[in-house]
Amino acid sequence: MTDRYAVIGYPLGHTISPAFQQAAFDHLNIDACYEAIETPPDQIGQRLDDLRSGRLSGLNVTIPHKTGIVAGLDRVTDTARLTGAVNTVTATHDGLEGDNTDVAAIQEVLRRANVPTGIDCLLLGAGGAARAALVALSRRGDRVTIANRTTSNAQQIVRDLAPDSGFNTIALDSPSMTALAHNSRLIVNTTSIGMHGGPAPDRSPLPDEAFHAGQTVFDIVYRPTTTPLLAAAARAGATCLGGLEMLILQGAHSFQIWTGRKPPFNVMLAAGRQALEAS
Ligand code: ATR
Repeated sequence: MTDRYAVIGYPLGHTISPAFQQAAFDHLNIDACYEAIETPPDQIGQRLDDLRSGRLSGLNVTIPHKTGIVAGLDRVTDTARLTGAVNTVTATHDGLEGDNTDVAAIQEVLRRANVPTGIDCLLLGAGGAARAALVALSRRGDRVTIANRTTSNAQQIVRDLAPDSGFNTIALDSPSMTALAHNSRLIVNTTSIGMHGGPAPDRSPLPDEAFHAGQTVFDIVYRPTTTPLLAAAARAGATCLGGLEMLILQGAHSFQIWTGRKPPFNVMLAAGRQALEAS
């Protein structure tokens, strides 16, 4: 029987997950299909029933369900518990298990780009994506400063995720942001500034003077592939990492959890890129 997998979210918009996950199943000749199922909050229970009955074998979970779905699961991994968010659900023989593969994906993006560990890092944002990034950066041993429009949200994620770290927080509009960014070896953007369809698609969260060669700037936003932040960083000679690779890697980790097979990353990346260009 064909195994069914899906991404759920609300609204789902145009998601490229079906394109790259299906490409991986097809490449490995696994009899499975992957679809997008737009799921309003009051239909989460139905999806969980689908998993328990075997109509679905696994899910990717996206906004706004990453936190809300936890209550309906039988267990979550340590990483999912720490971040408080689940992006991968697997129907196992003894119940539904939640995991968070965003954390491993962020670590892997930085490892693939040979970004040294234990460095000064500026993390922009304090939402769900920032939580995953903060766990990933802490595990790398980086010294992190969290900058956010709402400073109390930044303070909250430090309290929740890294209470003994001594990590500082700062307001995104602080006059000292430019110097702080300039002195950071790594900058990670998890705000929605620069995102197509977001609140400020044409803006960069940092001024051009923040960047220089020798830095790495990683923008989790993947639509567009070159955000205003990455364009400015590239002009200054910084190493730029876009969000597409991270999106594919979090999905590739989900694929591995579901199937136990090594995901064909390059096949998935090519399919994801093609789907993004076509959308
Ligand atoms: P996600 O789950 O993708 O991280 P989120 O939880 O809604 O999404 O978080 C969005 C992040 O972008 C937050 O850090 C938010 O800042 P606030 O905590 O102050 O809300 C940030 N953000 C969104 N719109 C912004 C804007 N116009 N200017 C600055 N920051 C913005």
